[in-house]
Amino acid sequence: MNVARAIAEVGSALREARARQAVIGCVPTMGALHEGHLSLVRRARAECDFVAVTIFVNPTQFAPGEDFARYPRQEARDLELAGAAGADLAFIPSVEEMYPPDAATTVHVARLTEPMCGAHRPGHFDGVTTIVAKLLNIVLPDRAYFGEKDYQQLCVIRRMVADLNMAVEVVGCPTVREPDGLAMSSRNAYLTEEERKVAPSLHRALARGAEVIWQGGTAEEAEEAARKSLATEPLFRLQYVEARRPDTLERDERPGPPMAIAAAAYLGSTRLIDNVIIEEA
Ligand code: PAJ
Repeated sequence: MNVARAIAEVGSALREARARQAVIGCVPTMGALHEGHLSLVRRARAECDFVAVTIFVNPTQFAPGEDFARYPRQEARDLELAGAAGADLAFIPSVEEMYPPDAATTVHVARLTEPMCGAHRPGHFDGVTTIVAKLLNIVLPDRAYFGEKDYQQLCVIRRMVADLNMAVEVVGCPTVREPDGLAMSSRNAYLTEEERKVAPSLHRALARGAEVIWQGGTAEEAEEAARKSLATEPLFRLQYVEARRPDTLERDERPGPPMAIAAAAYLGSTRLIDNVIIEEA
């Protein structure tokens, strides 16, 4: 696996692949790779001729006071894992490489970024869309792989790619979970032993909400069921739980699927997010 740190090196690493018209796949990450990330890399490996993984802890998507400074950084391990999962190239730029001092452009997606995580993390999605647009413009992949784990992010990126006529196919991939149901996340490493034990309650609560939708309940009824379920676990502090229509994230009080029910909750100082997508019956 090739490693590029400068933007210019990405172009040279991809020249040969482009010359043979290889299908190029890109998997943007912030590193601290786990099975969730690696499932994206493997999917890209299976579907593309050349796979680029990007590893960049993007400062602009963290608000002041969030965990940018303590976000886990484990480059050597990440390179090994990405290579073993089939990546051909790892792009690991510095903050200076991605954000030169004269940079003045932000990509903002309206509406979809307002509810849910957007309401609680000011500026977060602008940071995400700006860096993802830059990474996609640098790698110029045919396909880019994102996890459903960050469901609102996936919807926002799909919107951006459509609105900006970016020539890339966005591929959404299912959430990879620990055996007890906890969605894999780099932030799970922050959990104490006690917190880790109760962490699967978040997914259980969302599964309970999903059941209500399946049974023909409304978004509000599903949220109430999820809220009630999580309330049995006193260590959790719920930030939001919202059931909305997939893709558009619109509120719709008409009952039943399709729906996506998503939540963010704190365990101690760790903010966890998760969701369950309830497809059309
Ligand atoms: P990060 O949290 O590192 O996640 C990188 C990609 O892996 C995202 O598309 C995310 O949805 C996916 N992912 C994370 N955990 C997953 C799991 N348990 N199952 C399946 N996929 C999972 O998301 C980001 O980084 C950043 O916001 C980024 C898009 C890289 C922009 O900085």
